[in-house]
Amino acid sequence: MDEKRVLLIVGGGIAAYKALELVRLLRKAGVAVRPILTKAGAQFVTPLSLSALAEDKVYAQLFSLTDEAEMGHIELSRSADLVVVAPATADLMAKAANGLASDLASTTLLATDKPVLMAPAMNVRMWEHAATRRNLAQLQADGVRFVGPDEGAMACGEYGPGRMAEPAAIFQAILALLETARPLEGKRAIVTAGPTAEPIDPVRMITNRSSGKQGYAIAGALAALGADVVLVSGPTALAAPAGVNRVNVETAQEMLSACEAALPAEIAVCVAAVADWRPETVGGSKLKKGAAGPPPIALVENPDILATLSKAARRPRLVIGFAAETDDVEANAKAKLRKKGCDWIVANDVSVAGTMGGDLNAVAIVTAKGVERWERAPKAEVARRLAQRIAEALP
Ligand SMILES: Cc1cc2nc3c(=O)[nH]c(=O)nc-3n(C[C@H](O)[C@H](O)[C@H](O)COP(=O)(O)O)c2cc1C
Repeated sequence: MDEKRVLLIVGGGIAAYKALELVRLLRKAGVAVRPILTKAGAQFVTPLSLSALAEDKVYAQLFSLTDEAEMGHIELSRSADLVVVAPATADLMAKAANGLASDLASTTLLATDKPVLMAPAMNVRMWEHAATRRNLAQLQADGVRFVGPDEGAMACGEYGPGRMAEPAAIFQAILALLETARPLEGKRAIVTAGPTAEPIDPVRMITNRSSGKQGYAIAGALAALGADVVLVSGPTALAAPAGVNRVNVETAQEMLSACEAALPAEIAVCVAAVADWRPETVGGSKLKKGAAGPPPIALVENPDILATLSKAARRPRLVIGFAAETDDVEANAKAKLRKKGCDWIVANDVSVAGTMGGDLNAVAIVTAKGVERWERAPKAEVARRLAQRIAEALP
């Protein structure tokens, strides 16, 4: 990716701090980043932080004698392979949708002849406002690509869609747009991600702490290499990565059915944290608290999705499972490889604080040939390396 260049416009929203992490991910992957910081953006992150991480100067003024002499604003708008707006404020979206050129960021967006990717971030009411809906539709019609927003709790205290996509998801969307080599073109991949939710009654369920971040990152990384990806996802608050076909499920049984419906495929990566057990019976109405005390909940075993896909008549050529372990990580992963009949196990030590739900992961790739340990890295980076490795294994 050394020769790839991104022009990153950072708008004025709380999520601007996440743009710093995005720059770090891009630089680590060898992508050059040239930042433009809006006047409002500079209220949230400093030009110094952006410049230090991007290892380039920050452009902020339209009317700057020195900047204009060094690199005119038109040249700046064409100096990259891709223009990324993160966070894309309601204001920047409105300006771009209407062709305004009233500052450096909007002028650049109007003057560029390169693809544009926006990662919107704003309060839920602003996102749902009719004006923003119109601007979004216009920008989409103009060919602008979008990543996110996600749904969730916001800095302003409200809840809903409007949170900027995680830096890892934006990074993946960028890679997908920059990637010209598409070694997985024409190959189908099934990726499972997130937790499952096993109902006890209409209001209660058994679930787990999986965020879905690693699985979503892998789905995005495979799509970036050209794979036709079906992401079978348990309940998460994440937006589907660009170019990925998401199927939403809740229970392990639904997840297995969705995987089987997605066959045939060349690749299966089972990242989801599937509940091992589910309640034997599901109450038709809410179980009442009563004098009899807590109700006994009998559990039955759930189907083993990894083992089922590994033994399927239409078995994918490469079946990869994830093993979230807290102790004897590699020994358990080797045992799991044999027991499930899959090709690789990606073992991750979830006893390390911040792995489950966090952004970093330290994994070991366990195959019949041995164990390869990868250093702790952002989940997006782990996903990118794994997708490359999958492409090498499937010529
Ligand atoms: C504390 C604070 C947070 C803000 N967060 C957002 C935001 O997340 N999204 C947004 O569209 N506008 C947000 N705004 C409003 C923008 O900063 C404002 O519309 C500004 O003019 C945007 O300028 P820009 O689009 O050139 O960056 C926020 C304003 C304040 C004071």
